[in-house]
Amino acid sequence: MKKLIITVDGPAASGKGTISKHIKKKFNFYHLDSGLLYRIVTKEIVTKKINFKNNKDLQIFLKKLKKISLKNQSGLRTLTMSKLTSKIAKFKKIRDFINFNQKKIVREKLKKFKGIVIDGRDIGSVVFKNAQIKFYIKTNPKIRAKRRYKELIDRGEKSIYDSVLKEIKLRDYKDKNRINSPLVIPKDAVIIDNSKTIKTTKKLVDSFILQKIS
Ligand code: CDP
Ligand code: CDP
Repeated sequence: MKKLIITVDGPAASGKGTISKHIKKKFNFYHLDSGLLYRIVTKEIVTKKINFKNNKDLQIFLKKLKKISLKNQSGLRTLTMSKLTSKIAKFKKIRDFINFNQKKIVREKLKKFKGIVIDGRDIGSVVFKNAQIKFYIKTNPKIRAKRRYKELIDRGEKSIYDSVLKEIKLRDYKDKNRINSPLVIPKDAVIIDNSKTIKTTKKLVDSFILQKIS
């Protein structure tokens, strides 16, 4: 069977990660969370106090960084980090650097795995345009905010529902309206509404994949 690439794009907290992890487990695929790469690079920029708006500084920083280490993932999912990641993700130099790394990871992992599932914003529309299966996850913003709020509270972070909803809406706006690789529905994507239970979504996703690979 040909190696399979499945892309899962959609707005913040729509359920991309949960759905991708399910696909990984059910089909024994490798899962790459591209948002995580953007968050890791953002954390490096913050820690090293890089003036990312300065082209030259950014170039030197990326040259030194060379490779993205997936080791230290703490402090990446706070509201502040999410906001900042979206600000930094609009820069073409950052996107080119991450895309280069993503493609390298995918090449490596496909030697071992029969398929790979990647979630993000521009995976089906730009990074892996030739993916055999593309999903776009659509979920009501208030439902997304409720779920993300619960996640933050469960992790022990002080959180206010209204702030979470505001952050999600602002990030949606920034991600959809930037010049470089904005969040769009890939023209050949299957749109999944994940506003209901995850069980319902998993069934839909599974039946689509099984029908496609049989
Ligand atoms: O999990 P959540 O949907 O809240 O965010 P994420 O997938 O971790 O992505 C964090 C931010 O990284 C997004 O708001 C985007 O600005 C950026 N991102 C991107 O520009 N392109 C991607 N392929 C993935 C993430
Ligand atoms: O990766 P992304 O930011 O798009 O979303 P996620 O982190 O996978 O999902 C956000 C939250 O919604 C998680 O706490 C999920 O457990 C929850 N959730 C879901 O993804 N789908 C449902 N149908 C119900 C809850």
